[in-house]
Amino acid sequence: MFKTIIEPFRIKVVEQIKMTTPEQRKQMIREAGYNIFSLRSEDVIIDLLTDSGTGAMSANQWGGIMRGDESYAGSPSFFHFQESVRDIMGFEFVIPTHQGRAAERILFSVTCNEGDVVPNNSHFDTTRANVEFRGALALDLPSLELADMDSDYPFKGDMDVAALRDAFAEYGAERIPLVMLTVTNNSGGGQPVSMGNARAVAEVCREFDTPLYLDACRITENAYLIKMREPGYAEKSVREIVREMCDLAQGCTMSAKKDAIVNMGGFLATRDAALANEQKILLILTEGFPTYGGLSGRDLEALAIGMQEAVDEDYLHYRISSTHYVGQHLRDVGIPLLWPTGGHAIYLDAKRFAKHLAPTQLPGVAVANAMYQIGGVRACEIGTLMFGSRDPETGVESAGPRELVRLAIPRRTYTQSHMDYVIEVVKRVWEERDTLPAYRIVEQAPVLRHFSARLAPVE
Ligand SMILES: Cc1ncc(COP(=O)(O)O)c(C=O)c1O
Repeated sequence: MFKTIIEPFRIKVVEQIKMTTPEQRKQMIREAGYNIFSLRSEDVIIDLLTDSGTGAMSANQWGGIMRGDESYAGSPSFFHFQESVRDIMGFEFVIPTHQGRAAERILFSVTCNEGDVVPNNSHFDTTRANVEFRGALALDLPSLELADMDSDYPFKGDMDVAALRDAFAEYGAERIPLVMLTVTNNSGGGQPVSMGNARAVAEVCREFDTPLYLDACRITENAYLIKMREPGYAEKSVREIVREMCDLAQGCTMSAKKDAIVNMGGFLATRDAALANEQKILLILTEGFPTYGGLSGRDLEALAIGMQEAVDEDYLHYRISSTHYVGQHLRDVGIPLLWPTGGHAIYLDAKRFAKHLAPTQLPGVAVANAMYQIGGVRACEIGTLMFGSRDPETGVESAGPRELVRLAIPRRTYTQSHMDYVIEVVKRVWEERDTLPAYRIVEQAPVLRHFSARLAPVE
């Protein structure tokens, strides 16, 4: 009815942002070796590095933190958490873990062996690492539509179902212990997966008697995007849509640091009693007793409440509209980005943004560093610094598969005026795009170099 997007909450507690000048930031990024991961967060004005664990909890959640029961075994906070997850997702066995990757490690430890293959629309990097740690192959099967950054296709997060069938034909069902569907598809630009696609994937899994698991950390954002975009879902509630998707699966892993809006937490859920028992044994080894896993009672309370708040449609409307608002404003002036916007982030196409720079000149770093220097906004390069490599013999750099800059938006943390500020900063960088310098890597670690590399602009 009104075009102004308002936050469906009031602010009770505030956190001071330290304002800095471009001159100060120029010096701070130089001291950080031109790597945004090495900045101190207090020197950042708007931090869009990740949406994981950076959300603002509600008064209800903070109330839950005080009510949390810290009993070692059988805590009421565990039962509240279990009931909340069952209520939203319908999975019978719920195993708390300290975060998503711990759930992944347990799931793949009990299901996956050397030589196995795990198909996924796109593995998140910790998911991939946990599959590979078991000696199995993490097979990404993204939809073909994802390759076109500009099309209006509404569900670019889908899995390529024909490719999934091919994988069963090539490796045989006995080598595929499970199929995973990541909703929304984070490594695929935070794009949603349609219910039609999830149903088709579940159908193939049924045919080959293979369980389907969801990587469900953004399932409520995904459900809201289904409601908005998929024919036949406009009248269904997000709660119903989430349940419909879960009904297609045997279980899920969940990093609750995303849609469940807690700063730490996760879980593994399944319908399979025997598997749950095996999983609990591993849980005890590394995480803790099954009624707390890797979490304290207060965390379980906050998570239980966050799960319910995550399906609130006023909240999701604001969340998805606000992300779309940022994307639309940037697109209107011609800034290249992955379209349509998904739930949690805007992905700028640095290759076209800084088109005078070759991938090995790190265009994503150039854009991200300019955003910081010009406006104190921190975003993350997902390009050659993150996924490229240097030949140890020749020192020759090879490019990563894409050059993106991700602006991940924390939940309920920033206001619309903060988003207007971000838009202004990115537009300013866009105006100066032809002057952005190339970067070279001065120092790097042998693995995961983007976290600690030191860089320098090429004069
Ligand atoms: C799709 C997806 N799966 C799994 C994870 C891992 O979760 P965590 O960071 O809680 O271990 C993430 C985290 O960013 C994610 O985005």
